[in-house]
Amino acid sequence: MTSVDEVRAARARAGPVRLRGGRTVVLRWAGPEDTQAIARLFTGLSQESSRSRFHGGLISPAVASRLARVDPSTGMACLVAAVPGEPGRLVAEGRYVPVDGEVAELGITILDEYQGAGLGRILLAELAEGAGRAGYARLRALVNLGNGAMLHLLEPYGWVRAEETDFSVACLEISASGGMPGFPAGSAGRRVLVEQRGWHDARAVAALRQAGYEVRVCAGPRLRTGRPCPLVASGRCRLAEEADLIAPMLPAEDPDCAPVLAAHRRRWPDRLIG
Ligand SMILES: CC(C)(COP(=O)(O)OP(=O)(O)OC[C@H]1O[C@@H](n2cnc3c(N)ncnc32)[C@H](O)[C@@H]1OP(=O)(O)O)[C@@H](O)C(=O)NCCC(=O)NCCS
Repeated sequence: MTSVDEVRAARARAGPVRLRGGRTVVLRWAGPEDTQAIARLFTGLSQESSRSRFHGGLISPAVASRLARVDPSTGMACLVAAVPGEPGRLVAEGRYVPVDGEVAELGITILDEYQGAGLGRILLAELAEGAGRAGYARLRALVNLGNGAMLHLLEPYGWVRAEETDFSVACLEISASGGMPGFPAGSAGRRVLVEQRGWHDARAVAALRQAGYEVRVCAGPRLRTGRPCPLVASGRCRLAEEADLIAPMLPAEDPDCAPVLAAHRRRWPDRLIG
């Protein structure tokens, strides 16, 4: 499976799912009674997976229990994967936790020996759809820049950088309802779409954030990795349509980027800055 639509079409929502390689897991939405099994999943991760998930090293059982807590009354939702015939054991969990009324933070954890079998893609599709149904506009993920698998999973959703973070982590947002993620409601008049490659704000972009602008950074199209520009492909991009200002900083000589720049010049010449 490669596209978001394909995964959504084949989604499990709850029930058995056959993974790449032939193993089967059962997906279900979790409740508070699953907290300890999720904590065991967290402490059973390899050091590398634990670092990718929690941005530190291995975590203690006490910290795992705190991080694993499932409390649907807060608006969070948690999807877990169990192995048939192995009660009490979970091999994956994915959750979103509300940040505010529009954004929820995403976290996915797959036990090492179940990674690479398609489970992460399925959980992500389910969580995005669940968050959309629950009324969230966007999902946010803090992703280690070395986490190629997670970046790869997010690519077809069309992520944007929402905030500047430290050197090793990116704060990425995807839409929970399809298409590109938009800007926060209530930020009209201060919305700046920056189109810039790289993981960190250029100096001018940092200055915009500091001045109080609501900045979203789009890395532009990369057709080789399955990231098209929706503005070029379909004529629609929520991010560009909602922006008050657009700062194109993509390489004009890149054949993937030239049509994006042309579309901006044609449609919103008075919004262009820089
Ligand atoms: C990141 C993670 C959630 C991905 O889940 P998964 O079940 O392993 O992922 P899937 O098997 O669904 O898909 C992985 C995809 O990434 C690709 N991939 C794997 N490693 C990659 C790399 N280094 N660079 C680019 N792509 C990579 C695979 O080829 C696959 O792509 P495909 O489906 O197009 O073939 C999982 O590995 C995990 O839990 N890691 C540890 C914790 C973590 O990083 N959580 C995310 C923090 S929010």
